[in-house]
Amino acid sequence: MNDAPTPAAPVIPAAYFGERVTWVHHWTDRLFSFRCTRDTAFRFRAGEFAMIGLMVNGKPLVRAYSVASPTWDEELEFLSIKVQAGPLTSRLQHIAVGDTVLIGRKPTGTLVTDNLLPGRTLWLLATGTGLAPFLSLAREPDVYERYETVVVAHTVREVAELAHRDLFERELPAHEFLGEMVAGKLLYYPSVTREPFRHQGRITDLIESGRIFADLGLPVLNPEHDRVMLCGSEAMNRDMKAMLEARGFEEGSNNAPGSYVVEKAFVTK
Ligand code: A2P
Repeated sequence: MNDAPTPAAPVIPAAYFGERVTWVHHWTDRLFSFRCTRDTAFRFRAGEFAMIGLMVNGKPLVRAYSVASPTWDEELEFLSIKVQAGPLTSRLQHIAVGDTVLIGRKPTGTLVTDNLLPGRTLWLLATGTGLAPFLSLAREPDVYERYETVVVAHTVREVAELAHRDLFERELPAHEFLGEMVAGKLLYYPSVTREPFRHQGRITDLIESGRIFADLGLPVLNPEHDRVMLCGSEAMNRDMKAMLEARGFEEGSNNAPGSYVVEKAFVTK
């Protein structure tokens, strides 16, 4: 007879859902993605973030993470860095299928289409894990109803960090339901700063030089017809904000829609 005690299931604090990990993918030694089950009561708007984490020593250890999956997906997906000394990501990077993760019950955030005035082209500009909210928005039918063109520009240091490149280049255009909608509307512009690649350089420089507009065949950024969402490092957000405001863009918020919105790519530890 096996009389070893069964380990008690962890008690999930009331502010969280306890969800089961269903998929983990390591892009590089600095970057990984995971998916988990989704409680039917967990509702969010594409582009929002929630507090995500693990029970550690009986307490929740959580950080803000943008939801990377679209609102219609049965599961939830997240994109995370790995920091060996980071309190959460040093642990989270070891999660495996079947483990329990905490999902905060109250998603929120500013990178939502309601915070932007109507426009023609939606520019989703990300560095690193800042791509996460745009992975959600780029799979949202509502976004394609609102805009004629949707650009996803993702800048990373190395080619291997272009997470989900295949999703943009192959899966979405061939997707059973979204394919027709994104065809001719969704433009993916990956760029790399620290090794050779077909598009090279920081997004700020690509905009300043006009290179990205020439490559995509689009007019230069103008608040009359362009809307921008920014999600990157503190430095990228600061530099992009300054560039946009110099061009007459105004920041939108949950109280007043504008021509651009910004949020930092959260987790750095
Ligand atoms: P760079 O390699 O020139 O620093 P990180 O991995 O450090 O978060 O950086 C992700 C990407 O963001 C890198 O390609 C990096 O370029 C770029 N980046 C860093 N700072 C800025 C900035 N102020 N404006 C635009 N891009 C930036």
